[in-house]
Formats: sequence, structure tokens, C-alpha cells
Amino acid sequence: MELNTIYCDDCLNVMSKMDDNSIDLTITSPPYDNLRNYKGYSFDCKAIAKELYRITKKGGVVIWVVGDKIVKGNKTLTSFKHALIFQEVGFNVHDTMIYKKKNTPFMRSNAYTNCFEYMFVFSKGSPKTFNPLKEKTARCGEEMLVCNKKADGINKKVLGKLNSEKTKTNIWEYAVGLGGTTNDKIAFKHPATFPEKLAEDHILSWSNEGDIIFDPMCGSGTTCKMAILNNRNYIGCDIAQEYVDIAQERIKNSTKQLKIKFN
Ligand SMILES: C[S@@+](CC[C@H](N)C(=O)[O-])C[C@H]1O[C@@H](n2cnc3c(N)ncnc32)[C@H](O)[C@@H]1O
Repeated sequence: MELNTIYCDDCLNVMSKMDDNSIDLTITSPPYDNLRNYKGYSFDCKAIAKELYRITKKGGVVIWVVGDKIVKGNKTLTSFKHALIFQEVGFNVHDTMIYKKKNTPFMRSNAYTNCFEYMFVFSKGSPKTFNPLKEKTARCGEEMLVCNKKADGINKKVLGKLNSEKTKTNIWEYAVGLGGTTNDKIAFKHPATFPEKLAEDHILSWSNEGDIIFDPMCGSGTTCKMAILNNRNYIGCDIAQEYVDIAQERIKNSTKQLKIKFN
């Protein structure tokens, strides 16, 4: 397969041409529960999970962003059904992360407003790369810290340094919509883009420069765009030509941005 290319095809066809153990990181969001109309294309989760397992390098990771629809007052739990399929084909469910949306419209009169989707972290064995993202701690400087009680039962305090930053939690929050998800107006011709920052945060966490990032259902090309901007290689594909056109346009524009930055 050509690196840094977006294919217009069913992802199962594209993956069938890929070598075993060739992809470092996959970041994708599948169509689920017919929540959006993707022109009626079929979606075979088990076949896709099996192929992803075959093409992922040992220690490679798949980020699977998925939510649930409510049918007659009942959550479908498609998200967890997908996770069980990935586990069945050999992946570890390394983490169950939450993508929290900052600005969500009120949708239900008899339940709290849903403001999240799952970001499953599936790994082929133990992840070979983890570059933890950090966030500022609420307090820093020095403080009298309580030490473990000794046999005499007295609390001894010592002056200790507080860290100014800590590893982020596994709930990540993003603004959505224009200016949040992306500034690329063209991306909104696609009905379900995920935030650029979400893709970038996973790219930085689970891969290194020069690695190969794959998005088998790349839609408007968010994963591929953020791969280029972070000096990774990408392979993308989508079954719908009109989304591939959007993705290619966004990638052309980001390549131009990169050229301007380095010239
Ligand atoms: C949730 S969207 C992905 C959006 C993307 N993450 C973005 O930021 O734009 C899912 C995409 O899967 C594509 N799709 C559905 N079935 C597919 C298949 N079998 N092979 C490849 N793409 C498929 C749809 O056309 C749709 O664009």
C-alpha cells in the first residue's frame, strides 16, 4: 500500500492488501446503529476487527470511538458489543476512555443529557508506545506532607515538593462544532467528524514520529490530517467518494500549511 494516501473503497478490501503486522496505530470511528445515513453501506464489525488484528504490529493500538443509540427507551450498547468482538479476536481492552463533549444540546426529558462517547483502546499485547499527556495540578510548590504512621502511631510530617503536572485522566473533553471540532468549514459536509484534537492526543500518546497511522473509515480525513501535522505517515480509506474528496481537500490544505511553516 502507498503511504500518505486515501483510498476510496470498502475498508475490508483495503486491509486485504495490507501486510501482517504493518500498522502502528489505528484511530477510527465506525458507523453505528445507523445513527447517520452512510448511504446504506454494510458494516461487518467482526471481519473488520479480525483484519485490524492481523495488520496491527505487536504492541500496536486501535482507538475505536463509538457511542450508543437509544431505541424505544433502551440503549443499544453497540459500543460494548464492539468491544467484546475486539476482545474475542485477540485484542486486549487496554482502556475504556471517555470522549466528553463540552457543548451538547439537551435531548431527553426523562434522563440526563448524554455528553460522551467511548474511546476504546485495544492493543495487540502490551502497548509498545505510551507517551502520557500531562495536565497541570491544582496546587504546586512545597507542603508539609503526612508520612505513613509508624508503630508509635504518631503522624510524622515532612516538607515535600508537590508536582506541577500529572498524567491526564482517561476522560478527555473537547468543544465540538466549528472552531472546536475543526476550523475547516468543508469538514462539516460530513455528518459525524470527531475533533482534530482528539485524534492528535491519541497520535501523540500511542505513536512516535515516522510511525504509520491508519483510519479505515476516515470520513472527512481528521486522523490523516493530524497524522501529517505531527510528522507521522497515514493511510486512510472511506467507502464514499464524496467524503474522500473532503478528506483530500483538507489534507492538501494542511500540507500547504506545513510548507509555509518550514519555508
Ligand atoms: C463516523 S464516520 C467517520 C468520521 C471521521 N472520524 C471524521 O472525523 O470525519 C464513519 C465513516 O465510515 C464510512 N464507512 C462506512 N462503512 C465503511 C466501510 N465498509 N469501509 C470504509 N468506510 C466505511 C462512512 O462513509 C463514514 O464516512
